[in-house]
Amino acid sequence: MTKRIYIKDLNNYIGQEVLIAGWVDIRRDQGKLVFMDMRDMSGKVQCVVLPNHTEAMEQVKEVRTEWVLKISGIVNKRPERNIKEGVVNGDIELEIINIEVLNEAITTPFVINENTIGINEDVRMKYKYLDLRTERMQKNLRVRDKIVTFFRNHMHENGFLDIETPIMTKGTPEGSREYLVPSRLEPGNFYVLPQSPQQFKQLCMVAGFEKYFQIAKCMRDEDTRGDRQPEFTQLDYEMSFIEQEDIISYTEDMFIKMVQSVYPNKKIQQIPFPRITYKESMEKYGNDKPDLRKDKNDPDELAFCWIIDFPMFEKDKEGGVQAVHHPFTSPKSEDMHLLDSDPLSVRANAYDIVLNGYELGGGSIRIHQRELQNKIFELLGLSKETIEARFGHMLNAFEYGAPPHGGCAQGIDRIVMLLENEPNIREVIAFPKTGEGRDLMMGAPSEASEKQLKELGIKIIK
Ligand code: AMO
Repeated sequence: MTKRIYIKDLNNYIGQEVLIAGWVDIRRDQGKLVFMDMRDMSGKVQCVVLPNHTEAMEQVKEVRTEWVLKISGIVNKRPERNIKEGVVNGDIELEIINIEVLNEAITTPFVINENTIGINEDVRMKYKYLDLRTERMQKNLRVRDKIVTFFRNHMHENGFLDIETPIMTKGTPEGSREYLVPSRLEPGNFYVLPQSPQQFKQLCMVAGFEKYFQIAKCMRDEDTRGDRQPEFTQLDYEMSFIEQEDIISYTEDMFIKMVQSVYPNKKIQQIPFPRITYKESMEKYGNDKPDLRKDKNDPDELAFCWIIDFPMFEKDKEGGVQAVHHPFTSPKSEDMHLLDSDPLSVRANAYDIVLNGYELGGGSIRIHQRELQNKIFELLGLSKETIEARFGHMLNAFEYGAPPHGGCAQGIDRIVMLLENEPNIREVIAFPKTGEGRDLMMGAPSEASEKQLKELGIKIIK
């Protein structure tokens, strides 16, 4: 008997001797009897050392919580009066015969078998590998995997192709500051980390793939908030030969099926999701992400809605205009005649999906003609040289038979946060950063060595 059994499967071995491995969750020494809950990736089980197992009794007196053990024992049904209803393994107990210590553990900075939500977050962040041992964090990451797996399968079932796009690239105008990576071979030049795969997915459409998707890491150097991280994950997709209605109905159907599959107990308040114009939303709710829940205390209520007809442009701080979504979004054909005379009143073929007062995702029908794209860049105040230097590749691509196309991107972290009723996205990300953008466990960002800086041709001015 050497094969290790997962704790969740112990019920299949009643009356038999088995081997388990895992962590000591809690230990209760009652003198004559010692109880110990053992934990592995699959669950927990109560173990007991009876006085007649003298060797095991000596061993168990030594062990402490979070030690890593291999235990052989007999799976017993619990006496009727000790059965815990509704608890995994509540009806069985492992009678310990032998303990092998695989590794010891020093005292942890917080208790692992309790919810850590109230613990100082800097401490949780520094010891993230311990925080992640807790039941809630394990659950959040497992459900995140389920949601992502659902999306991935759904995309494949609908003929989308998963294409990886570069992380070391050039600026993507999504409205945030960018992270730069210095080039060693070209001192003074920099790669830019993508704010989203926006341009690459459009170029995949020019390349003829027609249906692209990616579970994409995105990086944005912006102030962190409860629903924002400097690096986050999008479900990003793009389609050719479609209209706004196609993207909206595909997305809506995907969300409904995801909720039915992963959260069958949750109720979607209204299907089809209500569609509200940007103007209406601002007038009625004072924002563009209204919370339409009837009962905000009901953790199972999901009020999705679409916000449509966003303006194309808004005023920027310097008195010019900037793109509300991004500069690749197409203007509505019926507003095209206003581009020169009254750009601020031009509406875009752009849409956001909102859930319970949070923006989950957004997208648009894109421009696919050089002339119009160039005009939009000009309206945004970019010089001819800047347009050529920053976006020449897009303009060129549009001259080689670019199909009409559009797409959308959903914030995975926000989706999991809302569905798990967590107060911020750090609770559903394995290794998140603090509000100041620091990784307290790894100690990032950190200084570079003199040698590295020299190779990169960089001088630090303090
Ligand atoms: P957008 O910028 O609206 O669109 O981003 C899409 C979704 O990504 C999520 N998101 C974030 N999540 C966590 N932390 C952040 N800092 C953060 N920033 C954005 C949000 C948001 O709704 N390329 C376009 C999509 C498209 O046009 O297809 C884009 O990135 O949930």
